[in-house]
Amino acid sequence: MLRNKDLLGIKDLEVSEIMSIINLARLMKQRINNKSLRQQNLKNETLITLFYENSTRTKVSFNMAAWYQGMNVTDLEVATSSMQKGESLIDTAITLDRMGIDYMAIRHEKTGAPHLIAKHVAASIINAGDGANEHPTQSLLDLYTMYEKKGSFEDLNVTIIGDINHSRVARSNVIGLKKLGANVTLAGAGTLLTTGMEALGARVCFDVAEAVSGADVVMGLRIQMERQNSGSFPDLREYSQIYGINEEIFSKAAKDAILMHPAPVNRGVELTPELCDSNISAIDEQVTNGVAVRMAILTLLHDRNKSVLKSSRR
Ligand code: CP
Repeated sequence: MLRNKDLLGIKDLEVSEIMSIINLARLMKQRINNKSLRQQNLKNETLITLFYENSTRTKVSFNMAAWYQGMNVTDLEVATSSMQKGESLIDTAITLDRMGIDYMAIRHEKTGAPHLIAKHVAASIINAGDGANEHPTQSLLDLYTMYEKKGSFEDLNVTIIGDINHSRVARSNVIGLKKLGANVTLAGAGTLLTTGMEALGARVCFDVAEAVSGADVVMGLRIQMERQNSGSFPDLREYSQIYGINEEIFSKAAKDAILMHPAPVNRGVELTPELCDSNISAIDEQVTNGVAVRMAILTLLHDRNKSVLKSSRR
C-alpha cells in the first residue's frame, strides 16, 4: 500500500512501500507477455503523459503499463500545446485536472516541477524525471531488476559509474539502495562527481577498476551532453578509455556480477557494445521490468486513492 497521492521521489518512500511495488511488479511481469493473464483492473481510469524532455522507454512504458490494465491514455504533445502560447505549467496541469484525468506522469527539465504540480491538482502525479533531482520509476525498475537477479539488497555491492552530477537515476538509486541496506560506490571523472553524494551514504571513488572490484552489480550511466554547460572532459574517446566499462574492467567484479544501464546507452562510450550484448547484461530485462514496475505503481496508487475516498465517505 502507498501512503501518498503522488509518487515524487524515492526519498519519500518507506522500505515497505518500495518492497510492495517490487513484489507487485513480479506479478505484473507475468501479464506483459501472457495476454490471457492481463486484467482490466484499471478500466475507466485515465492517464496523461506530459514529457517536456525527450524519452523513449519511460514514456512508452507508462503507456503500455496503462493499456495492459485497461486504462485510457493520452499524451500531451508539448510542442503543439498551449504552453507554446505562454500557458504556465501549473495552469496546464489544472486544466488537465479539470477534465477528470486521474494520473499524470511528468518529465521536466526543472527540479521540483512534479512537486509543484502535485500541490495544485487532485490527480496523482508521478515523477518521470525532474532535472538532476530524481527519476523514481527508473530507480524502482532498477531495484526490482537487482532483487530479481540477486534475491536480496542486504550488503549487495552496487557500483555506479558515469555522469553522476547530472544523473537523477544515480541520485534516486543511491537513496533507494541505502534505504534497503546495500553498499553503493560511485565512480567516474572528478568533474562529473562533485555533488557531495557521500552525504547520501555512497562511497566515492575516482578509479574505475578499484570501484568495480568485487561489485555484484555494475551500472553504467549515460554521459548527458544535453545537461553540460561546459565540457567536463576533453573528448569522448578519452573519457571512454579512462572511465568506460570494458571486459577487462568488468572482470574485476564478482564472478556472478550483472551489468545494468538505464539507457539509452552511448555504445562505445560508457560501455563496450560487446558487454551491452553479452549474457551478463540485464539492460533488456530492465526495459521489461520498467513496464511491470509502472503497472504496479499505477495499481498501488489507484488502491490508495480508492481507500482514501472510501474512508472520507464514512
Ligand atoms: N531511462 C530512461 O529514462 O530512458 P528514456 O529517456 O528513453 O525515457
